[in-house]
Amino acid sequence: MAYFDWTPALSVGVKTFDEQHKKLIDLINTMHEAMKSGHGRDRLDLTLEELKKYTVYHFEAEEQAMTQHGFPNLEAHRKEHEKLVSQVRDMDISREDVTTVDIMEFLKRWLTDHILGTDKKYSSFLNSKGLR
Ligand SMILES: [Fe+2]
Ligand SMILES: [Fe+2]
Repeated sequence: MAYFDWTPALSVGVKTFDEQHKKLIDLINTMHEAMKSGHGRDRLDLTLEELKKYTVYHFEAEEQAMTQHGFPNLEAHRKEHEKLVSQVRDMDISREDVTTVDIMEFLKRWLTDHILGTDKKYSSFLNSKGLR
């Protein structure tokens, strides 16, 4: 079992975005593996960079779909994305008082809370526009 498993409870009902969420989860698992196998900060850093880039890519894809279909809560969702991007950008994994466990737990919660609390709000709207 991986550190962080995608489950149907995390589905937002749009295949593309479920796949992108799975990719984000994979990257978090890769960071966890790097930590466990003692590869240390170098590989953590690399994967964190990849996670930042893919996060931006994914958020843009969601915002584009919401814009295209006129989702009424786009602005609130966009603000939430901005907050999440700056949180992950500001992560300083070189700080000695921050443990890798803290980092992993933060990222797991960071993504889970957004999917459950924010992304799921577009599901029925985008489904009604034909996105599955
Ligand atoms: Fe989102
Ligand atoms: Fe998302």
